[in-house]
Amino acid sequence: MDNKINFTLNGQPIQADKGETILKVGLKNGIFIPTLCYDDRLKLDGSCRLCVVEVAGARTLLPACSTEVSEGMAVLSHSHRVIKARRDILMLLMSDHPRDCLVCDHNGRCKLQTLCSQYNIEDFRFGWLGDEEHRSERDVDESSPFFIIDRRRCILCGRCVRVCNDFMGVGAINMGRRGSKTVVSTPFLEDLSAGRCVSCGNCLSVCPTGALSLKKQPELGLEGTPGQGAVAAFYGREKPRRVTTTCPYCGVGCQMSLVIKGSRVIEVEPLRGAANSGLLCVKGKFGHRFLGHPDRLKTPLIKIDGKFQEATWDEAITYITIKAKAIRARHGGWHFGGLSSARCTNEENYLMQKMARAVFKTNDIDHCARLCHSSTVAGLAATLGSGAMTNSIEEALRSEVIFIIGSNTTETHPVIGAHIRQAQLHNKTKVIVADPRKIDLAITADCYLPIKAGSNIALLNAMMKVILDENLHNRAFIEAHTEGFEELAAHLARLDFNETCAICGVDPQQVRRAARLYATAGSSGLYYSMGVTQFASGTNGVMSVSNLALLCGQIGKESAGVNPLRGQNNVQGACDMGALPNVFTSYQTVTSPENRAKFEKAWNVVGLPDQVGLTLTQMMETLGDRIKFLYIMGENPVVSDPDSHHIRHSLSALDLLVVQDIFLTETAELADVVLPAAAFAEKDGTFTSTERRVQLIRKAIDPPGLALPDWQILVRIMQAFGYASPDYQSASDIFEELRAISPSYAGMTHKRL
Ligand code: FES
Repeated sequence: MDNKINFTLNGQPIQADKGETILKVGLKNGIFIPTLCYDDRLKLDGSCRLCVVEVAGARTLLPACSTEVSEGMAVLSHSHRVIKARRDILMLLMSDHPRDCLVCDHNGRCKLQTLCSQYNIEDFRFGWLGDEEHRSERDVDESSPFFIIDRRRCILCGRCVRVCNDFMGVGAINMGRRGSKTVVSTPFLEDLSAGRCVSCGNCLSVCPTGALSLKKQPELGLEGTPGQGAVAAFYGREKPRRVTTTCPYCGVGCQMSLVIKGSRVIEVEPLRGAANSGLLCVKGKFGHRFLGHPDRLKTPLIKIDGKFQEATWDEAITYITIKAKAIRARHGGWHFGGLSSARCTNEENYLMQKMARAVFKTNDIDHCARLCHSSTVAGLAATLGSGAMTNSIEEALRSEVIFIIGSNTTETHPVIGAHIRQAQLHNKTKVIVADPRKIDLAITADCYLPIKAGSNIALLNAMMKVILDENLHNRAFIEAHTEGFEELAAHLARLDFNETCAICGVDPQQVRRAARLYATAGSSGLYYSMGVTQFASGTNGVMSVSNLALLCGQIGKESAGVNPLRGQNNVQGACDMGALPNVFTSYQTVTSPENRAKFEKAWNVVGLPDQVGLTLTQMMETLGDRIKFLYIMGENPVVSDPDSHHIRHSLSALDLLVVQDIFLTETAELADVVLPAAAFAEKDGTFTSTERRVQLIRKAIDPPGLALPDWQILVRIMQAFGYASPDYQSASDIFEELRAISPSYAGMTHKRL
């Protein structure tokens, strides 16, 4: 009971934990104390004073956000004196605030407006300084490509500055000038579109007024002058709908809310998901305009005499079946190959590999993981048992040391990059960066190793050699949890340390320093990405990464482990779903007779293929030969695979190319049939993030024209080829089927998720 405090809030006896603030205890007990500058994720500012409360015996009113409860304290949150003080504060704020709520983008969701309404601020006793001379210095900054800073509407709560500096660790904005001339300034930049601002828009998301608002979106047909009503047209008086979903860009799996007016997504707001704590990056926050783009595919297309012609679904699918059956008649087999998609849902990837295996009886199914993290899947499966992150994303906040190799984290996984910066800023985490480029995190790293491209393994060997030579390895862990240590030690003993450092092109002293930092920390988290995997020796690189962690016992405890950062939103899920040539779902091998029997029973088919199929790169070598009918769902290999000319040339050798996508991509242009698909906001399903968190996406708007969710298209195709597919009514029905045969997904349902 030592840690408990007894006090009264509005006469009601309350027990709270020692160290809790009046504001937090009030919230827990359903007593709303208004705030403007407070955000529980950010450093306390205490500038707005709106949260003041009356504490018996205190000379002045005290801010609830920064005053801790104490034994016997008597607090009044809504006394006459408190209400009067809050009204005075609001009136003072309004004396310096434009009276243009009717055309302000934040009309209806502005915290200041709501509080003025709640506290009945109808008389403006302190007048209005709107025309005073100093106001002219409060300008409108439109230099960002995405948002506008209207300093006239700013109440100087400092939330934008704190989120930028303390939470994102970017430091693009700050408070400038003094006294009544104080403004949010951009001290390092002439304008926001250049230099340090990363356009993440988190400043906009925390702004309690209309001081930060979205720039107009001309493609939505809205005209006007920013700050003078153009953006207000998005919201107006009409309450928009909000749909919770998962970001479709990288593997972090940020949770967000799509704001919808009519049939359009007009804005994205961050939500406090486990991985993103209310942050988004520029892609998640602003990259949604493609949804309503006029170039979206709206109808199936069939190429006749080199030109696409619009078709109905029946016409397109009939065309595909006739052409495919002709291939079968001519060549004695379907000669099918499939490319699945790390952009599509788990349910869709599951159906895609099911279609390849159950309908076309081939394991020639793969997806883009082949080109990014297949070396992770192989290398970590061999050394750790599973190819995925060993830590949750938020554990990065508490690592004593973070070692980043081959990942430009702040660019490719900006929200994880923000976690690393927060750990540096608030937890004194030491950061080691090994990268040929001086990436952002290298600038503030404690140890930067500018290695030559392709020398990852040499560097890791050199670090392990230091660790062994200086007896910094974890013997107890090695004995209890590893095998093959002697071979590794013997190999390292043969290496010349200085020569190995010379291969990497780095100062041996810096390598020693990095090795000592990593090995001796209480918890060291290792993060890597495609700077390690995208080499012919990628699998060995991954194994070296995990050897280093195992050597030091920096795994199997909180905030210490091996963390491959997966690129696309659902690349983890596409692998989990068996969109790979060697495994069914949950990495159950296709060569196992038991596994095949299990899937034959579940899918009600016989004769599932028993040979490992071709990888994506192998498929490209056999187009027109082993593979004559290629079906691509949501991938654009002409652009994303190595050697565009070669890919184009290979695709031209096919008898039948079907591409299912949301735009007429460079690959789709080469197709015989193009099928229009729904984007992430237009369908239901699940994505699995890089930390293996399975999260829902939800339908927010209708797909354009005749476009359909990918899973519905696949069901139609399977049925057209004579497979008696279950009558799935929803993505959830597909999930029910897959979880019954996939051990790692067995305990989940859409409802539980
Ligand atoms: Fe407490 Fe602003 S919320 S001072």
